[in-house]
Amino acid sequence: MSVDLLLGLQWGDEGKGKIVDVLTEHYDIIARFQGGPNAGHTLEFEGIKHVLHTIPSGIFHPNAINLIGNGVVIDPIIFKKELENLAPYNIDFYTKLLISKKAHLILPTHRLLDAASEASKGKAKIGSTLKGIGPTYMDKTGRNGLRVGDVLTKSWIDRYQILTQKHLKMLNFHNVELEYDLSELESQFFESIETLKKCQIIDSENYLHQAQDAGKKILAEGAQGSLLDIDFGTYPYVTSSSTTAAGACIGLGVAPNKIKEVFGIFKAYTTRVGSGPFPTELFDEIGKRIGKNGHEYGATTGRARRCGWIDLIALKYSIRVNGVTQLMMMKGDVLSGIETIKVCNQYKTKKGIYNYFPFDINDESVSPQYIELPGWEEDLTKINSVDKLPKNFINYIHFLERELMTPIKIVSVGPDRKQTILR
Ligand code: GDP
Ligand code: IMO
Ligand code: MG
Repeated sequence: MSVDLLLGLQWGDEGKGKIVDVLTEHYDIIARFQGGPNAGHTLEFEGIKHVLHTIPSGIFHPNAINLIGNGVVIDPIIFKKELENLAPYNIDFYTKLLISKKAHLILPTHRLLDAASEASKGKAKIGSTLKGIGPTYMDKTGRNGLRVGDVLTKSWIDRYQILTQKHLKMLNFHNVELEYDLSELESQFFESIETLKKCQIIDSENYLHQAQDAGKKILAEGAQGSLLDIDFGTYPYVTSSSTTAAGACIGLGVAPNKIKEVFGIFKAYTTRVGSGPFPTELFDEIGKRIGKNGHEYGATTGRARRCGWIDLIALKYSIRVNGVTQLMMMKGDVLSGIETIKVCNQYKTKKGIYNYFPFDINDESVSPQYIELPGWEEDLTKINSVDKLPKNFINYIHFLERELMTPIKIVSVGPDRKQTILR
């Protein structure tokens, strides 16, 4: 049986949480494959908004299993809080939520190192969510990390102490003032490890192989976005995991030839939170209007998201890198009332014109070239079928489909589950 994959094509926050929730009724298992609590996945139904950081977005569906894969990094403190926030919904976490033994743990000192590293970078800071993501993946690839399965072993505390001592020495090296109370952080940490231990901690790749043999339908849920990928993103302004399609194979133990549909999600415009290049960023009234109407504030950090026009160079690149088979366009409703919509189809730089996403993306001379399309006045948020969508909005969709050479199968016109139009 095949595995489908859903991932963001921009700089994150495309609406992955909402669409995974919408699609979960068609799947038996929802599996997160990378990232950690830097993610904030929002879903909304029955008038209530939920933000998930570590737990997959299928958790509200009674029949789906939700799996946190080996490629994810888990902060037990944040994970425990997430479970507590979900307590009113009577979810049976013991049967519905599975955690990979191979997922790496974010220690309190990883968070401190993240803060120190960012502080020491000054103006060149990444704009990290400061959740300890970079230092944890560094320990993973440096072969020093601690994994969820380790907490079930006797030597766990010794290994924890050795790694923490090393981190404290590294903190000194950064030469920045940080205020922290390690004993308080550690007491929270060890308390939440006990919560983690109550969950089903398993050999997740083996579980997924058996599920595939049994014909179960699996949806892999990505975090962040393709332009934040450690290899293909706007390095060094990226996250520390493989957010692209190949990351699902690595982060779950699913073979590439088992992946069938690759759902690529994008916003009808572009946003970015944190530092780094963003050629189509708007600094004018339209940018502010998009931010306000789209409530563009980070679901994890509350920071204002930078807003700009849609960027076809970036989207084409992400579609190619991921092998996207179907697109999903989110937040078209936010553009209602804007007279002219701009679409970037080239980058001009000192070195010439680029029709592809270049290494030189961080070059300050990158200037976007635009095509203009007529906007639409109508409010889209109450529309529930394709034939009721305004003509200029349909034109925008058709234009993007032609340019991107990929069908847009879902159009989202509001944050609620129900504000989703299938095409
Ligand atoms: P994710 O990280 O990809 O899951 O996305 P986030 O949850 O961080 O950000 C997406 C935001 O847009 C959330 O606040 C969603 O509730 C909201 N949202 C999702 N789809 C739509 C849409 O079609 N229209 C509007 N107006 N909001 C949406
Ligand atoms: P979801 O899954 C948007 C950004 C941060 C920063 C950079 C590195 O909700 O789409 P990190 O904490 O990983 O060291 O930060 O990546 N970033 C995200 N931006 N959505 C996310 O996740 C993000 N996760 C990290 O703002 O620029
Ligand atoms: Mg988000």
